[in-house]
Amino acid sequence: MKVGVVGLGWAGQQHIDAYREIDGVELIGIAGLEDEVRAELVAEHSVPNDFARWEDLLELEGLEAVSIAVPTFLHAPIAVAALERGLHVLSEKPIALNGEQAGAMVSAARSAGRVLDVAFNHRRRGDVQRLRQEIDAGRLGRTYYAKAWWLRRTGIPKAGSWFTRSELAGGGPLVDIGVHVLDYALFLLGNPGVRTVSASTYDLLGTNGFGTSETSNKTSAGDGVERFDVEDLATVFMRLDDGGTLLLEASWAAHRADGDQFGATLYGTEGGAEWYVDDYIDVGSLKLFGDHEGTATAESIEAEPGGKHLAVVQEFVDTVRSGDWQGHDGAGAAQLARIVDACYESARERREVTLDAASILNAS
Ligand SMILES: NC(=O)c1ccc[n+]([C@@H]2O[C@H](COP(=O)([O-])OP(=O)(O)OC[C@H]3O[C@@H](n4cnc5c(N)ncnc54)[C@H](O)[C@@H]3O)[C@@H](O)[C@H]2O)c1
Repeated sequence: MKVGVVGLGWAGQQHIDAYREIDGVELIGIAGLEDEVRAELVAEHSVPNDFARWEDLLELEGLEAVSIAVPTFLHAPIAVAALERGLHVLSEKPIALNGEQAGAMVSAARSAGRVLDVAFNHRRRGDVQRLRQEIDAGRLGRTYYAKAWWLRRTGIPKAGSWFTRSELAGGGPLVDIGVHVLDYALFLLGNPGVRTVSASTYDLLGTNGFGTSETSNKTSAGDGVERFDVEDLATVFMRLDDGGTLLLEASWAAHRADGDQFGATLYGTEGGAEWYVDDYIDVGSLKLFGDHEGTATAESIEAEPGGKHLAVVQEFVDTVRSGDWQGHDGAGAAQLARIVDACYESARERREVTLDAASILNAS
């Protein structure tokens, strides 16, 4: 299988590393604007073709599939062009700037009859998969409430980068890390539909220069214009189709413990669970709570490391090779984009927003 990667920042390099690990996959081209980074990657991985512009990579003879790991505003144009050329596409998250663009990508995948997958690597973590197994085994009974979050004290990607501009990124932490949280939380809850959202977003710290991550390793240089017109914190209360609720938080900047943490708490009729990951540790802390004849029980659960981009890329390659592409049209990721749109609308208008039932039915 001959593949290419567009975008050579942290995310693009995860895709490159993963493709290099999979037997029978040949990385025949890369594209990215940074000449030096391109030259280093070409030398390191013996890539036969490299381009500054993504348009040139898509023309490459024999190319069958492409990973898209560029600033979010470019996901839809590149994906649609690639699908129309008959390529299979693995896009980085979030799928696109908004639900409308995501819908265009899904339509392009369906018309072309090609795979469109989106890199939600966190749900493939070993600890998340293990928790889902415990839930499937009935340890929590019927889950009806979850809190899920990804919170950083000072984690705003470098000032001046595309990340802090709404027209290039689609928003701040809600669409950046919150979309991972939404994905893994709904996965853990058994993929219920989201019926309504009530969100608030804040930009009180980022706009005042607090919260920039000095360690941020964005490959694209900022253009020197320090602009911050996205939120730095979002909180959302969601009502789910199955009667349950989900409370989601995402921050790039907040006066809280230092570092970067994500996780989830779930409550069910038979038990509860807490999963917590500190500073990207490979296996987070996972605990199940219950009741034994009136006495509280608490059990720590071991999990294997796993997930990361290799799992996502491997699944994409396996899907393409299998020829069974049913359900791999990006519709699930597009539905997450519509939910995020509804959250921003709710925050802007300071009211609860109901998701349109047709869009829920169209998601797979
Ligand atoms: N799944 C994850 O865990 C994860 C983690 C980080 C980033 N991401 C996502 O990956 C994407 C990229 O993020 P990043 O942090 O790697 O960004 P980055 O800014 O570090 O890198 C972006 C890359 O895109 C390239 N690019 C920009 N315009 C281009 C063009 N016209 N033609 C060709 N290349 C172009 C840049 O040259 C650069 O190599 C984003 O959508 C982000 O949300 C996902």
